Amino acid sequence: MTAPKKLYVKTYGCQMNVYDSERMAEALGQQGYVETTDMAEADMILLNTCHIREKAAEKVYSELGRLKPLREAKPDLKIGVAGCVAQAEGAEIMARQPMVNLVVGPQAYHRLPAMMEAVDRGETALDTDFPEEDKFLHLPAGRKPARGPTAFLTVQEGCDKFCAFCVVPYTRGAEVSRPVDRLMREARDLVERGVREITLLGQNVNAYHGQGPDGEWGLARLIREMAGIDGLDRIRFTTSHPNDMDDDLIAAFGDCEALMPYLHLPVQSGSDRILKRMNRSHTAESYLTLIERLRAARPDLLLSGDFIVGFPEETDEDFQATLDLIEAARYGAAYTFKYSPRPGTPAAERPQVPDAIADDRLQRLQALITRQQRAAQEAMVGKETTVLFEKPGRMAGQMVGKSEHLHAVHVDGPETLKGRIARVRIIEAGPNSLGGVLA
Ligand code: 5AD
Ligand code: SF4
Repeated sequence: MTAPKKLYVKTYGCQMNVYDSERMAEALGQQGYVETTDMAEADMILLNTCHIREKAAEKVYSELGRLKPLREAKPDLKIGVAGCVAQAEGAEIMARQPMVNLVVGPQAYHRLPAMMEAVDRGETALDTDFPEEDKFLHLPAGRKPARGPTAFLTVQEGCDKFCAFCVVPYTRGAEVSRPVDRLMREARDLVERGVREITLLGQNVNAYHGQGPDGEWGLARLIREMAGIDGLDRIRFTTSHPNDMDDDLIAAFGDCEALMPYLHLPVQSGSDRILKRMNRSHTAESYLTLIERLRAARPDLLLSGDFIVGFPEETDEDFQATLDLIEAARYGAAYTFKYSPRPGTPAAERPQVPDAIADDRLQRLQALITRQQRAAQEAMVGKETTVLFEKPGRMAGQMVGKSEHLHAVHVDGPETLKGRIARVRIIEAGPNSLGGVLA
């Protein structure tokens, strides 16, 4: 028997890429590959890339440059590029880095086994099509047992919103929702393998409109149906757009026990002028009204967001409006970005804000967010919450898990807590996690 070939996957960017990397590893498993965490022993290295950040493609090219010595030492080493940079750059990747054997876009992963057969014959393989067929249909279901008590499940992909700064509609294509019955099957399968918490993923997850047994279902209906799965205790979803937050989904935060009180709802800016130029089709006020309604349904909802500073033509006044919105909305977590022009998007052509000004705004924004984040953590001290334990902590005898509000929580407790949900009283708030005692 020959030794299995080793696959090393490096994942950049969003949670959807984490999910995709797992599915790709499984598809390559059919080709005899087993995963390794040691790049040096790999027979194949797959970079699953993200195009959101500044100079994303350049960073992939330099990463590929760093792989050159490995390839020289091991001429049989296969190198593949997947994800959104693969989609955006396509054949350019092989032109600039001829050692790359395979380039596969996010809509073509199910064709990986056939592509690998071509690579094994000494050919290069490139597929960045947006095929009609559903790629998920062709990917094997997850391995046994699950990697831990939490899992991602992609329910929707792509985006039709075309925010003026964003490449997603170009790299991930139009919005597609997966049908209800397959998602329910995948969710049941995950639970059978020990998963207690599922995060439903989609670039525009709350725009989900998948085919159900009696017509199209929205996200709230899907969540309620999944909440009925015995053993599935927690459901989350990300990322949402304010315009797709319908009444049923808002109500679900109040009446669906399994739906956790955490919502990532990016607003991007607090200035109506900038929001319009971003093509966001909501206003600061409509966003704040939405937050009020969500908190009426679930008073302890922890709100998280994305913000961009230095969007073209952003003035001090516009930026102040963003700070004001953050003060009013009260965030428990947030991701802050300095605007970076993405080639091919409308905003890239517009007059840019000088770097020094954008840097200064980013710092001020981060300081405010950090303050709010601390306040949210400190507000938990003295309260009881449930924690789903995932792994041992850094200190001996400690276990770490996630609270309902997605705070990392550590307690002194036995390893048998792993995969269990227990009540915990929070006794301290540190910068990165909360400390508690089993209640
Ligand atoms: N520049 C800066 N931030 C961006 N994002 C998306 N595109 C850009 C860009 N060109 C941010 C948005 C989005 C998050 C995933 O990344 O805030 O919500
Ligand atoms: Fe990009 Fe999100 Fe806007 Fe879609 S809604 S274009 S994914 S920022």
